[in-house]
Amino acid sequence: MRDGWKNLPDALTCLDGTVITDRNQWQRKRRPEILEMFYRLEYGRIPEEEIQVTVRLTDVSESPDIMAGNALRKTVEVEAKRKERYFSFPFVVFVPKKTGKAPVFITICNRGVQDSDPSRDFLSSFWPAETIVSRGYAAAVFRTQEVAPDYDEGFTTGFHRLFPEYGGRGNDRPANLYGAISAWSWAVSRIIDYIETDPDLDEKRIAVAGHSRGGKTALWTAARDPRVAMTAASCAGNSGDALSRDSRGEKIEDITGKFPYWFCPAYKTFSGREEELPFDQHMLLGLIAPRLLYTSARTRDDWADPESQFYSLLQAEKVYNLYGKTGLREDSLQKPEHPLAGEATGHHLKTGSHDLDEYDWNCYLNFADQKLI
Ligand code: GCU
Repeated sequence: MRDGWKNLPDALTCLDGTVITDRNQWQRKRRPEILEMFYRLEYGRIPEEEIQVTVRLTDVSESPDIMAGNALRKTVEVEAKRKERYFSFPFVVFVPKKTGKAPVFITICNRGVQDSDPSRDFLSSFWPAETIVSRGYAAAVFRTQEVAPDYDEGFTTGFHRLFPEYGGRGNDRPANLYGAISAWSWAVSRIIDYIETDPDLDEKRIAVAGHSRGGKTALWTAARDPRVAMTAASCAGNSGDALSRDSRGEKIEDITGKFPYWFCPAYKTFSGREEELPFDQHMLLGLIAPRLLYTSARTRDDWADPESQFYSLLQAEKVYNLYGKTGLREDSLQKPEHPLAGEATGHHLKTGSHDLDEYDWNCYLNFADQKLI
């Protein structure tokens, strides 16, 4: 074990020293305390109660051209209003034609249209919608860039239009105000709002998947929103599933230097001071317990630190144990092409560099087939 992991904050020891021994205490005391720390110090908070949301189904299409006639394609528009300011974003969902409510995979696409194409002119293993649908799952997708820009533009466009008082260069953003990861995560929750209203979709079997910055967003969403039944996070790495302490890859200084707009302003104050954080990322994973959680990594993705991703999942399993869910065995080895599954947690390492492809998807779907039932 790395030196810096010897003194990780314990997921089950409260700030006042109380040691949690059962799930009720966890739910009542420690879980809210940890969630609050992630809001205040890392991802930031959106003043959600000030936003009015309308979700509108704008199109339902069915044709032999759409997934060989095996799915309906629904297009939905999410409209948000705050103090006479408006913002909207679209998403699509392919629904397999079969009887009964379909479980859904929501994919957070942090890439371009070629990796999330609603017309299916471009097919991509990053989002193999045909495979997802053929296995009986609805496949929903939205593009992060259509919600909040993925560059440092001073919080003036997209979702940020709703909060003009915080936008513009040189404006001091409040220390705990949301960053882009929270905005993208808000979008996932709005897609879930829609799923709850669609009789073709099963609101009890919602999975959220994402890669890298999308993986970080998937984890944060599941931590906040209990309607997420399964999370699949690919190469989420720093500020996702990898521990911030003793990182051999990306550090808080790197991520907040290059992507300050992903987080609340308070987060960058921990650059080079990871030891002083009152939490680490295993506690983000613990917030998802007892719901299904699958993480995946790549052998050559040193920046995301695969060993740390794995160790952090094992640490999070302490929380799963409170719910009687046994994890991957402590002595489980993280070996390439060797998917591991506990009762509610799963993990694999794939040979290669930073990416999400059909191999990862098949592992996520196999895990969901077994457990998302
Ligand atoms: C950068 C960033 C990572 C992130 C990755 C991605 O490499 O430093 O934290 O995961 O981009 O989103 O692809």
